[in-house]
Amino acid sequence: MSDLQQTLDRIAGAPDLHSLDAVRVEALGKSGWVTALLKTLGGMTPDERQQRGPEIQGIRNAVSDAIAARKEQLEAQELDRRLATERLDLSLPAPTRPAGTIHPVSQVMDELAEIFADLGFAVAEGPEIEDDWHNFTALNMPESHPARAMHDTFYCEPLDGEPARVLRTHTSPVQIRAMMKHGAPLRVIAPGRVYRSDSDATHTPMFHQVEGLVIDKAIHMGHLKWTLETFLKAFFERDDVAIRMRPSYFPFTEPSAEVDVGWSMEKGRRVVGGQEGWMEVLGSGMVHPSVLAAAGLDPDEWQGFAFGTGIDRLAMLKYGMNDLRQFFDGDIRWLKHYGFSALAVPTLSAGVGA
Ligand code: PHE
Repeated sequence: MSDLQQTLDRIAGAPDLHSLDAVRVEALGKSGWVTALLKTLGGMTPDERQQRGPEIQGIRNAVSDAIAARKEQLEAQELDRRLATERLDLSLPAPTRPAGTIHPVSQVMDELAEIFADLGFAVAEGPEIEDDWHNFTALNMPESHPARAMHDTFYCEPLDGEPARVLRTHTSPVQIRAMMKHGAPLRVIAPGRVYRSDSDATHTPMFHQVEGLVIDKAIHMGHLKWTLETFLKAFFERDDVAIRMRPSYFPFTEPSAEVDVGWSMEKGRRVVGGQEGWMEVLGSGMVHPSVLAAAGLDPDEWQGFAFGTGIDRLAMLKYGMNDLRQFFDGDIRWLKHYGFSALAVPTLSAGVGA
């Protein structure tokens, strides 16, 4: 067998890149046999060279072409082997990112906005730093009215020439703002923060209320009762929610009623529903004519009802927390336990403006 054939056989049979390179060195390296052949060209006469030259070049080319081809083959085999043996495990769980939760107060605000949107109510807003007129005077509590003292008000440092301001003590000033802005007829709820100087397990200096207001031509207390019953049944998600209205007093409603809701014991916990006992959940009444007039509506033409309740309180009753202070501690463990998944829940309370 010629040297060439032997070399070509060894190239074709090289099991890996390493042995292929060994064959290359033996043939084409410094002291390889093909290199030696090429060197003989230098000592030849021009005639000899013309005769043998193409043959020797042909040998060189045959060897280097065969090496290149085998190299490509071996590399492809190597790639196939790696593709077959190495794999990325796509089933491994990705590292989790910390995700927040929806605070129960935000959750309840969204629930309220949804329930009342179904009843045709829009969401209205007002400032938390409120002027004295909207918070008290327009709500039929002129200066020196004794009811002002019931509110444990935070007063702001008065600025020269500015109206006196307070941290709003309830969401009722939003009634005034909504009536002045939109006139009548009107159906709004106003959820938001309110402030009173008070602190224990069921009171914090900042808490949340929701106000409801309906103004139209012939609205009466029957509408109020139906609306509250419908709302409480939808909110607590049970049909056996009973309410009881007791005569009461608020300066901005006449007549006024406090609303109690029936409760019962279930698994050692007091829950809304049934009638084993009653607890107060709402203040309400027919909007006082002086309030309508202060907001620019003619009390001989328009009338309506208003109600107000604590959002935090509703959340505690529905989701079973017992210490209000924990709502605002910002303890991540509490928020993980009581918070709600943030999965693409549209937030109506911030989205539907009145
Ligand atoms: N604003 C009252 C409060 O904070 C609640 C209320 C609202 C009562 C509307 C009657 C009508 O206690």
